[in-house]
Amino acid sequence: MFNHRPSALHDSFVRKLGIQHSLIQAPMAGCTTPDLVAAVSGAGALGSLGAGYLEPQSMLDQAAQVRRLTDRPYAIGLFVLPDEFAVDMAAVSKAREQLDALMEREGLAVRTRLPARWAPRFSDQFAALCEARPAAAIFAFGLIDTAQVRELKQRHITVIGTATTVAEARAWAERGADAVSLQGAEAGGHRGTFLHDADDAMIGLFALLPLAVRAINIPVVAAGGIMDGRGMLAAEILGASASQLGTAFLGCPESSAAEAWKQDLSQAVEHRVTTIRSFSGRAARGLRNRYVEAMEPGASNLPAYPALNALTAPLRRVAAEAGRGDLLSEWCGQAAMLVRPMPAAQLVGVLMDEYRAARRSLTV
Ligand SMILES: Cc1cc2nc3c(=O)[nH]c(=O)nc-3n(C[C@H](O)[C@H](O)[C@H](O)COP(=O)(O)O)c2cc1C
Repeated sequence: MFNHRPSALHDSFVRKLGIQHSLIQAPMAGCTTPDLVAAVSGAGALGSLGAGYLEPQSMLDQAAQVRRLTDRPYAIGLFVLPDEFAVDMAAVSKAREQLDALMEREGLAVRTRLPARWAPRFSDQFAALCEARPAAAIFAFGLIDTAQVRELKQRHITVIGTATTVAEARAWAERGADAVSLQGAEAGGHRGTFLHDADDAMIGLFALLPLAVRAINIPVVAAGGIMDGRGMLAAEILGASASQLGTAFLGCPESSAAEAWKQDLSQAVEHRVTTIRSFSGRAARGLRNRYVEAMEPGASNLPAYPALNALTAPLRRVAAEAGRGDLLSEWCGQAAMLVRPMPAAQLVGVLMDEYRAARRSLTV
């Protein structure tokens, strides 16, 4: 008989956050809404606002909306980026030609334009985060500095850093993070990788979890391909203090993913869930659709993140409005086809029932 008990780190992590379930709804920039976050948090898990693309005022507005809907703990997710970027303007011009030609061929009345700014300024977003004072902050793409860690802790904001390798997990632990969100290769959306080439940091969650748990002594959150309560328990047995699910929540009516994208998720096949750079200039996991295939020639010459992301954003908006999932960045994890479209609070209930049933089945 195998009698599993959650670790002491698991219990203290859940207690510190003030949540009932060791379940985090991943911050998903562009897809999370205050309704989604509040529904998840209201159901006892940790809802997260993906604020990476939001200007500070929108962050504060969305945070206030969450607060109006629930008084339960929630998180805000940000991308750690420099305030200014060196952008390769020759690559930008070439990319615009390629993208505009594609939009013309596909009959979409939208063309690229140079944005006023390539991305929101991280330091302004960080100030808004401090002002919003969520229970936790989840960072990806890089490390914040020690003064920033201190600032968050002074405000009792739990610091969670995303890592895709043991070296990155160690870097966050040494920086003073309270926990690490360990992103396996299965995970949907952008790779959080910041110390390595993204192609070298594609480690499966079942390999990465025990390695990271052995290497650091802060709680580790498991992310990547987890779609049900059995997966949550499996991650816990390998040492995770919580599970972070993104794709599973994309199908909820409260998620703002385009309808065409939601429909394509359930029909996905795993060998067409691939790593894509041609939407944003940064490696991300999603569906290999018409856009991805059309952009393959010359993909290595496309500008880097966030320039390409800013160029394609208006095109993706128009494609979504036109119901053209095949031209959208349909981010998802490798088990996307297991998505269950249902209200988020109900999904939390189903996940926790499955988790408890899986635990019981281990102890009989
Ligand atoms: C549509 C989408 C958007 C995402 N955006 C973010 C984000 O803004 N910040 C972040 O830390 N992680 C983001 N992620 C990654 C998640 O935090 C998490 O690692 C991933 O969803 C786990 O894999 P799964 O999708 O298979 O559950 C995103 C994932 C998806 C699917």
